[in-house]
Amino acid sequence: MAGRQASYFTALFFISLVFRDIASQQCHGIYSIYQMMLKGHTYKTFKTTPGTLECIEACLADDRCQSFNFVMFLAICELNNRTKEARPEDFVKDEKRYYMAKGLQRGDRTCKYRIVGFPLGSIRELPAESCEEIEASEGRQVVNGNYWLDSTRSGNSIFARCDMKTKVVDYCVKNLCQNDAKCVNRETNYSCACNSSGWTGKYCEKGFLLLKKCGPVGVTDRNAISDARMTASTVYDTRFYPYYGRLHENRGYGGWCPRTVSDRKDYLQVDMDTMLSVCAVATQGERINNEWTTSYKLQLSTDGVTWSVYEETSTAKV
Ligand SMILES: *[C@@H]1O[C@H](CO)[C@@H](O)[C@H](O)[C@H]1NC(C)=O
Ligand SMILES: *[C@@H]1O[C@H](CO)[C@@H](O)[C@H](O)[C@H]1NC(C)=O
Ligand SMILES: *[C@@H]1O[C@H](CO)[C@@H](O)[C@H](O)[C@H]1NC(C)=O
Repeated sequence: MAGRQASYFTALFFISLVFRDIASQQCHGIYSIYQMMLKGHTYKTFKTTPGTLECIEACLADDRCQSFNFVMFLAICELNNRTKEARPEDFVKDEKRYYMAKGLQRGDRTCKYRIVGFPLGSIRELPAESCEEIEASEGRQVVNGNYWLDSTRSGNSIFARCDMKTKVVDYCVKNLCQNDAKCVNRETNYSCACNSSGWTGKYCEKGFLLLKKCGPVGVTDRNAISDARMTASTVYDTRFYPYYGRLHENRGYGGWCPRTVSDRKDYLQVDMDTMLSVCAVATQGERINNEWTTSYKLQLSTDGVTWSVYEETSTAKV
């Protein structure tokens, strides 16, 4: 019993010491509340030497620490990664403990315990669950800005923008979507909507079969690309079937010819069967009359429905 009394006094003395220090420093950056605790946000517990400031110091030294509960008789320190402002519902009465927090005047240089604590959500290690929580924790002065959030408590922080007025979160601010993918903002994260040209993967980072080395697709070879895979808008006559438009073709006139020479909508289409990236195109005139196409555009498609014109520096390559 006597031993208990002694540590009780030690604890009280310690508290009043801290209070006095704080008062004398006119420092509002740190405060303690007797017989209260923040429940459910302790990420680290350890025993301290009674009468020392180990608990405060440990909290100050740890970026994640926002507050701590101190178990008085046992001199046990419980570091919390939230404050009572962030979680008022978890701030409860507890006769054996007192609660102490890193305060709101962050970076106040006149404080003895100068607490350059990290505001909730300001570092990856201390993600907030919502923009509301940041506002509750940091006070009304918080501004719109980028914060670390983990609204699903997945253990992974996501960098996002909070609009403090509307509480709208934009998870796209620093997205990793690639290859012209569109970032789609969702409830708790973003997703990447891949651009049509065959990209896949979470970030649309995976391309289709990229040829390691440029080589012929096989338009010269009927076994590689069958006649049926070569079609055209129109045909001049039976001497100029689309599939005669192969390189080195010696059937017919060795070339495809549209019905007229003036219809700019005429096209020759090659179905390459698999997804390929086209790195070069070669053309050749027909073999009998010495006629050839002087200019053309390329259109590519992965589904035969949506076509995109091959462009260089944003203009159609002719
Ligand atoms: C905050 O503490 C809780 C335990 O109270 C823990 O589950 C959570 O992972 C901690 N968050 C971080 C970011 O350390
Ligand atoms: C958020 O979305 C990205 C892209 O889909 C994903 O890579 C990441 O793992 C997600 N993060 C979390 C915490 O779910
Ligand atoms: C794919 O990206 C290009 C270039 O940014 C864009 O012009 C095109 O509209 C996009 N396609 C789709 C289906 O989003």
